[in-house]
Amino acid sequence: MRILMVCLGNICRSPIAEGLMKDIIKQNNLDWTVFSAGTENYHIGEPPHLFSQKICQKNGVDISRQRARLFDVADMEKYDKIYAMATDVLKAIRQKAGRQFDETKISLFLDELYPGQSRSVPDPWYGPEEGYEEVFDMIQKTCKAIIFKYGGKIIL
Ligand code: 4NP
Repeated sequence: MRILMVCLGNICRSPIAEGLMKDIIKQNNLDWTVFSAGTENYHIGEPPHLFSQKICQKNGVDISRQRARLFDVADMEKYDKIYAMATDVLKAIRQKAGRQFDETKISLFLDELYPGQSRSVPDPWYGPEEGYEEVFDMIQKTCKAIIFKYGGKIIL
């Protein structure tokens, strides 16, 4: 399974999701690949936000080598599952993908934990460091739910 995590800037939320998911996949010996991207071009080429790096590092996950990149229509083909971190991100993906938008591949990330509730991972960008901790916990719970659902394994 090839998974793409998508947020707006690809520096706060989706890098955490990429890093955490890769870590859990490794622990479960799954043959999955995970990457992330952003729908907006504000921070292309930049490493993850320092607070995102910090909370991951605190939990034993190094995301410092990730670099922000833009979501591309070609990603629709390249990935089996594309997770939008928030409803505005889903809307942006829909606009960018146009006729190539594939409903069957794209989900709101939090739908895996709270199906049908249209919940979004809050954007921590404008807020304090605690916001990144809240976001980390939310992302971690959801990554575990995804592994459990599609990987059938549970070394967490
Ligand atoms: P992300 O957060 O989508 O989780 O990476 C953001 C990062 C930067 C901006 C917005 C959201 N920005 O406006 O620059």
